Amino acid sequence: MNDDDPYIIRLLPDGKDVECFEEDTLLEALERDGNPIPFGCRKGQCGSCKARVLDGEVELDEKVSPFALSEQEREEGWVLLCCSIPLTDKVTIRVELGESAMEAAAS
Ligand code: FES
Repeated sequence: MNDDDPYIIRLLPDGKDVECFEEDTLLEALERDGNPIPFGCRKGQCGSCKARVLDGEVELDEKVSPFALSEQEREEGWVLLCCSIPLTDKVTIRVELGESAMEAAAS
């Protein structure tokens, strides 16, 4: 992999691959690709952007609040997309897209 090659986020349940560049959080990369990802504060405080990492590794920012993401959730592989960047070339995550988010994306 070249230094300039993007990381790839595989988004489940769709199975879609999304490019994520060096300076992107997972949330920014997924939004730029047009995916209706739920979010709120963008600062690791509300937990709206919670997702589960199924494969690969991400780095979670230290500013994440334990109220938004508990220690147990971290151990189970949950992350906050607004505060995560990829560490491995490929990262597979599962995001539950709310119905309202899906409707907004369709309109
Ligand atoms: S948007 Fe609030 S924790 Fe990510």
